[in-house]
Amino acid sequence: MALKDDIKKLLEQVGDLKAANAEELEALRIKYLSKKGEITALFNEFRNVPNDQKRELGQLLNQLRQQAETRISDLREQINEKCQQSNDKLDLTRTPDPITLGTRHPLSLVREEIIDIFSRIGFTVAEGPEVEDDKHVYGMLNFAPEHPARDMQDTFFIEKEIGVQKPTDVLLRSHTSSVQTRVMTSQKPPIRVLCPGRVYRNEAISARAHCFFHQVEGLYIDKNVSFADLREALLYFSKEMFGADTKIRLRPSYFPFTEPSAEMDISCNICGGKGCSFCKGTGWVEILGCGMVDPNVLEACGIDSKLYSGFAFGMGVERITNLKYRVKDLRLFSENDVRFLKQFESC
Ligand code: PHE
Repeated sequence: MALKDDIKKLLEQVGDLKAANAEELEALRIKYLSKKGEITALFNEFRNVPNDQKRELGQLLNQLRQQAETRISDLREQINEKCQQSNDKLDLTRTPDPITLGTRHPLSLVREEIIDIFSRIGFTVAEGPEVEDDKHVYGMLNFAPEHPARDMQDTFFIEKEIGVQKPTDVLLRSHTSSVQTRVMTSQKPPIRVLCPGRVYRNEAISARAHCFFHQVEGLYIDKNVSFADLREALLYFSKEMFGADTKIRLRPSYFPFTEPSAEMDISCNICGGKGCSFCKGTGWVEILGCGMVDPNVLEACGIDSKLYSGFAFGMGVERITNLKYRVKDLRLFSENDVRFLKQFESC
C-alpha cells in the first residue's frame, strides 16, 4: 500500500512545517498544495485505488490536506504578527532627515531687500531689456553725442552682422536708467518705479571691477517733487538697510540726466563713522548716485517739465552687498562656488 505510506510520511512532515517569512511560506504552499504540489499528486493517485480501500485512504487524504492547510494558515498568521510588531516599532511621527535646501544668492537677497524697503513707500518694479538701443540708454537721457560713455571703451556694442564691425546703435545697457526712459515714454505721471537688473560695462575683470554687475535704480515723477523728497527717501532707505543710526551725506556731482546731481555717502557701517581701512579713514562710504531729473529728459520722454518734476537714483547691488556681508572680491558673485554661496540665508 504505497499510497498509504506516502500519506503517512507527509502527515508527519506537515505537522511541523517552518517558514521564516512570506516567501518561504509561499514556497511551502506551492510544494504541497498547488496544482503540481505533493498532496495534489496523492489525490490524483487516489483515483486508481481499489474501491474497498477508498474510504480509509480518502479519510486519510482529507486529513492530510486539512492539516497542511491549517499549518500553513497558522504560519501565515505568525508571520503577519511579526510584521505588525516591527511596524509598531516604526515611529511615524519622527521628523525625517532634513532635505538640504539651496541658499539664495547674496545679490538676490540684497536686491529683494532694497525692493522691499522702497515698496513700503510706494515704489513698484519695472523691468526692461538688457540688449538696448542708444536712444534709451543715452540719447533720451541727455548724453551729448560725443559723451565718453558712448565710447567702445565703456560700452559693449553689438555687431548687427556677425564679424562686421560697423558703427551700431545696439548695445548692452550700461545702466538701468534705460528702463526709466521706457517707463516715462509709456506711462503718465505720477510715476514711482524701481528698475532692478543686470548692466554691462567694458571693464577688465578684477576683484574690484567686473564686465557686468547689478543695479537698482529708482524714479519718482509727480507735481512738486523736490530735492528734499529725494533726500528723505534716501535717508529712509539707508536707515532701513543699514540701521537706524546711519547718517547720509550728499556731495555735488554730475550726471547728464539729472540736475542738480549728487553722490550719496552713508556713515561707514563698519567703524560707525570713526574711520577704518574700509572707509579709508574718512568715516563715509559712497553708495549711490542721484539727482533731480533734468527737464531735457522729461521733455524727451514727452512729459511736461513745467508741470512735473522728479528725482532719480541708482545704486550697485554688489556694492550694497559688500557693505552688508563684507565680500571683498567681486568675482565671487559670479563664480558659483557653493562653499561661498552656502554661507547666505537659505530660502
Ligand atoms: N545711472 C547712473 C549710473 O549708472 C546712476 C544714477 C541714476 C545717477 C539716477 C543719478 C540718477 O551710474
